[in-house]
Amino acid sequence: MIAVRHLTILGSTGSIGVSTLDVVARHPDRFRVVALTANKSVQKILEQCRRFEPRYAVLLDETSAERLQVEVRRAGLATEVLWGVDSLEKVASLPDVDTVMAAIVGAAGIRPTFAAAATGKRVLLANKETMVMAGRIFTDVVKENHATLLPIDSEHNAIFQSLPQHFSGDLRAVGVRRILLTASGGPFRQMPLSALENVTPGQACAHPNWVMGQKISVDSATMMNKGLEVIEAHWLFEASPEQIEVVIHPQSIIHSMVEYVDGSVLAQLGNPDMRTPIAHALGFPERIETGVNPLDMFKVARLDFEAPDFERFPCLRLAYQALASGGSAPAVLNAANEVAVDSFLKCLMPFTSIPAMIEDVMQTIGRRDIATLDDVLAADGMAREAAQEWLTCLA
Ligand SMILES: NC(=O)c1ccc[n+]([C@@H]2O[C@H](COP(=O)([O-])OP(=O)(O)OC[C@H]3O[C@@H](n4cnc5c(N)ncnc54)[C@H](OP(=O)(O)O)[C@@H]3O)[C@@H](O)[C@H]2O)c1
Repeated sequence: MIAVRHLTILGSTGSIGVSTLDVVARHPDRFRVVALTANKSVQKILEQCRRFEPRYAVLLDETSAERLQVEVRRAGLATEVLWGVDSLEKVASLPDVDTVMAAIVGAAGIRPTFAAAATGKRVLLANKETMVMAGRIFTDVVKENHATLLPIDSEHNAIFQSLPQHFSGDLRAVGVRRILLTASGGPFRQMPLSALENVTPGQACAHPNWVMGQKISVDSATMMNKGLEVIEAHWLFEASPEQIEVVIHPQSIIHSMVEYVDGSVLAQLGNPDMRTPIAHALGFPERIETGVNPLDMFKVARLDFEAPDFERFPCLRLAYQALASGGSAPAVLNAANEVAVDSFLKCLMPFTSIPAMIEDVMQTIGRRDIATLDDVLAADGMAREAAQEWLTCLA
């Protein structure tokens, strides 16, 4: 008999959330949706409530939650509507929920993701920002509370699939030499450097292979996304920075690779569709149907690889730098990046100012030791303030 999994989906209205519900809907015998959450997307979450009839729907924004409450009543649904960060934490840690999809974008996801780990859930980690900001503190909470962490990022999921099943954190012990983290290179891989100054948010969000939320799309265009993933891989697989090599692979067919000491390289391949890693984690260790098109190797025909260009992608260099500094540096990098991306999306500054702002904020704030989640959040707050000041000076 199939054991039914009871799910909370944090960020259900986003790109990952919608793909998760797509997979869930294909397996009504395997999954029950207990809670859905979003920031303010009332209509979207209402539609999801109609379809999946969760016990809870949580919006961060109070006014939006009041509107949702009215609509839920009007639709005759039994769903209880809640709002605020405490409610996000509550639904991430409900006793009868065993699996939490952590798919809120940005640092806003950290508290509910911690709540899920602290209550021993199976955490499907899309919100890489939690791992970047709080690496060791988060992995300790996972271990202490016997939570299970399954990576959703296609790269980390591919690495997870290419490691032996008994891997428990020691790469050397299982004969791994390196992790090869693939990257598409985003939409500006071949654009003349002089043209980057004038690229628009629309161009930056037009990823060649993946359909994603706006923030991660811009992160892919600057390659900060890959930088955040290097930090994530460091904590997830206990890999030193030297053991993680970024490989540009424009077709996004190989989702990452693991190189072993005997010369073997194991890779996971597939069409670029997030339903594959999501289903892998939802069904783990079983494989379940996703609706993803089978990979047609004859159509793919060729796979290309190149080294990353650190001049074109200074954000990647900054991420390696933050990883080497440790302490609060990755949290500062992440916070400055969130402010920078948001400012670029609002046309308050050009694309090329994104790394400039992050580098200046990292220098201004410096590095501190961090021991608790509060330390992490304090570093995040300081970096955001410094980034806002930077923006004021620019105006
Ligand atoms: N998209 C991908 O293919 C992909 C791949 C790998 C990893 N990831 C990671 O997955 C996470 C989600 O990415 P995404 O592309 O799905 O993002 P997205 O499409 O922008 O969706 C973000 C979700 O988070 C909610 N949200 C936004 N701000 C919030 C806040 N302050 N408090 C609570 N909820 C908030 C949004 O609600 P509203 O709809 O109300 O705004 C939405 O449900 C990110 O960490 C990203 O790096 C994404």
